[in-house]
Amino acid sequence: MDKFVVYGGNRLEGSVKISGSKNSVLPIMAATLLASGTFEIENVPDLRDVATMSHLLRIIGAEVIFKENKLIINTERCSFFEAPYELVKTMRASIYVLGPLMGRFGRGKISYPGGCALGPRPIDLHLKAMETLGAQIDLEGGYIIAKGDKLKGAEINFPISSVGATGNTLMAAVLAEGTTVLTNAAIEPEIVALEEFLVDMGAKIEGIGKRKITITGVNKLSPIKKSVIPDRIEAGTFMVAGAITGGNIEIQNVDVRHITNIIDNLEKTGTKIRVKDNSLIIEAPDRIQPVSVKTEAYPGFPTDMQAQWIALMSIADGTSTVIETIFLNRFNHVSELKRIGARIDMDGNKALVTGVKELKGAPVMSSDLRASASLILAALVAKGRTDISRIYHIDRGYEKIEKKLRSLGAEITRTEGSL
Ligand code: EPZ
Repeated sequence: MDKFVVYGGNRLEGSVKISGSKNSVLPIMAATLLASGTFEIENVPDLRDVATMSHLLRIIGAEVIFKENKLIINTERCSFFEAPYELVKTMRASIYVLGPLMGRFGRGKISYPGGCALGPRPIDLHLKAMETLGAQIDLEGGYIIAKGDKLKGAEINFPISSVGATGNTLMAAVLAEGTTVLTNAAIEPEIVALEEFLVDMGAKIEGIGKRKITITGVNKLSPIKKSVIPDRIEAGTFMVAGAITGGNIEIQNVDVRHITNIIDNLEKTGTKIRVKDNSLIIEAPDRIQPVSVKTEAYPGFPTDMQAQWIALMSIADGTSTVIETIFLNRFNHVSELKRIGARIDMDGNKALVTGVKELKGAPVMSSDLRASASLILAALVAKGRTDISRIYHIDRGYEKIEKKLRSLGAEITRTEGSL
């Protein structure tokens, strides 16, 4: 398996362009199943998860071509309404095809997604919403068997604001009979982008970006051409890369509205941030000041930035706490960061980080997408060599990350790692 070899200590300088958002393009790709015809989706990041979702759409019968960050998806011949175990086990977001399959075809057979490195990842809210819309849901042999010829609009209140459940329910409701009202819906930018994508397809949705959404079912939707929003978590990751290395970098193609919480917290560390159109200029301070954060649903501090933040706090001039409130077990990066010399004490869902003057390179192992990002960030500032194994995790959600970092002056190479 591939690994990254990083020699730390270089201040990052120069400019880097952020790619399209992984967590926006995945539901949008699933949404193409709701209409027959050819879609053109631009600014698509070249990621493993995009390849996996493309593979899933092909299994369902769509023609999918990915070339130079553009997807052409033709859904005229969709006829196999199944998401197999071999595929779903590699990407939980495969569950996103449930809503559109139910919405357009009234049936779907999806392998029940297991847990992942972040802990149990229930989908009870997805299934409950489908049943409320009139679907019959059975579980057989590890598969969700969903049936429902014509879904009927309903009122659905989410006890937890769930990105995935909101997305799936939106996609099931747009072709249902009558009106659906969602309350406590997720308002992440990726959900807003999905709502806008569906409206462009001809869906009737009121309350875009709000916690209460009203969907009036229509009979038919049409294929469209659309561009994917920038990846706010990749942007946040590079912001931390500039800060942790004492660097001075320009980050292009960001939507500042989506990252205000990250900007506010990074400025508290003493990092200077200037906004120039859709770019940010990041100027690191001599010493990073400790800043405590607690992850929350949007617009709070993103859980997908928690691991990266702990890496930054590892070299801060003092102690900080990082509290994770979204996922039960999102601290797999802590034990690996401690191998590089970070001082982190765990207390349930709270990490107490005591900044150190210097981290020291060591062999470490990725466990999930954002944990991998935090290990790379720590390696960029650690003295000496850090080998990061199992980097297939990072390829799921960061496009050409080592090329982008090298263009900023980092010493990072991808090598054929031993098993
Ligand atoms: C999406 O996951 C993202 N993935 C995650 O990003 C992100 O961390 C998460 O939203 C939170 O922002 C994609 O968009 C592909 P949730 P999702 O449903 O939809 C609980 C990354 O690194 N819950 O908003 O699975 C759940 O256990 C990934 O890019 C239920 O209890 O997240 C969690 O505690 C990691 N029942 C909370 O809700 C359900 O049916 C929020 O999860 C669904 C969720």
